[in-house]
Amino acid sequence: MPAMRKPRGVPAPAAARAQAHANIALVKYWGKRDRVRNLPSVGSISITLDGLTTTTSVHFDPSLDEDRCRIDGRSDDGQRARVIACLDLLRHEAGCDWRARVDSHNDFPTGAGLASSASGFAALVTAGEAALGLSLGASQRSVIARQCSGSAARSVFGGYVEWHRGQDDDGSDSFAECLLPAAEWPLRTLVAITDDGPKTVGSTDGMQRSDATSPFAAAWQTAQPADLAQARRAIAARDFEALTDVAEHSCLKMHATAMAARPGLIYWNGATVEAMQVVRRLRAAGSEVFFTVDAGPQLKAITTPEHASAVRDALQAVAGVQRVIECGLGDGAQVLACGEAALEDTTGDATA
Ligand code: DP6
Repeated sequence: MPAMRKPRGVPAPAAARAQAHANIALVKYWGKRDRVRNLPSVGSISITLDGLTTTTSVHFDPSLDEDRCRIDGRSDDGQRARVIACLDLLRHEAGCDWRARVDSHNDFPTGAGLASSASGFAALVTAGEAALGLSLGASQRSVIARQCSGSAARSVFGGYVEWHRGQDDDGSDSFAECLLPAAEWPLRTLVAITDDGPKTVGSTDGMQRSDATSPFAAAWQTAQPADLAQARRAIAARDFEALTDVAEHSCLKMHATAMAARPGLIYWNGATVEAMQVVRRLRAAGSEVFFTVDAGPQLKAITTPEHASAVRDALQAVAGVQRVIECGLGDGAQVLACGEAALEDTTGDATA
């Protein structure tokens, strides 16, 4: 690849800082139709939060001989290969071979089923696009983010977001888009943290095992279009009851598919299950609330603003719930600074 000439629009230095938030899937992504291109076997629908934030700066620097990556102040070997693959996709778009320094910070536990890869890669692609002076647009950014971590495609957008399965072999039609802006139906999310540690089997490995060995994998895929249609209708109509029905169904069905793999995947702990029961008791007593759980033991309760404090108190009282994080719905990934301003250390860490 030729060394980059400096096209118009590239800040000097070629650096930018961006932030993105975690998203919570209401109709889950589980399974891949192409592992190399990271194409999903099903579409999915999520909400982007206004908390659980990743802030990432990236600096493409011709003096570097290799990419350098730090997550929460540490060189992170576990994510390094995926970060370099993401930088390569951006470099390819720009026709540039400069290596980069990446510095990323999460304000929540990394790798614990709180979608740190979603916010992380959405922030990285958004910062990288700005640092290289590219004008990809949000849809194309979601295509790039998707290749790094599927759920990251959704964190490019705010509010209610659908990521399309797509049909094309090259994945060009597997992108995300906003279904409804956050302000149009401002639900609240309470994240009950039951275990801060990293999950034992990550989503990527869990999906692979589930695709290969779960007898329910085919049924999971066949039923997804109907679930997506119900969620789309519920969101358009602000119909909380219909959204509750499809979101709990999708969550439990995803976990049932994963549990039926060999060996079975059990992402929950006792507190996760107790929190599910608490959410259902609250609902039986008249609160608008439902739960969802991803590939980890944290429970997310989605509720309306008027019921949020009661749900928070009830989850906090569950034995084994360490703390509860409350979020509203938020915006998609955003550039915070470009050029010199992006290199200012806003975290107290040295980035060299
Ligand atoms: C259970 O996006 O982390 O949270 O594409 O392999 O990086 P990769 O997987 P990832 O999977 C998320 C799975 C999930 C459900 C969801 O977010 O839709």
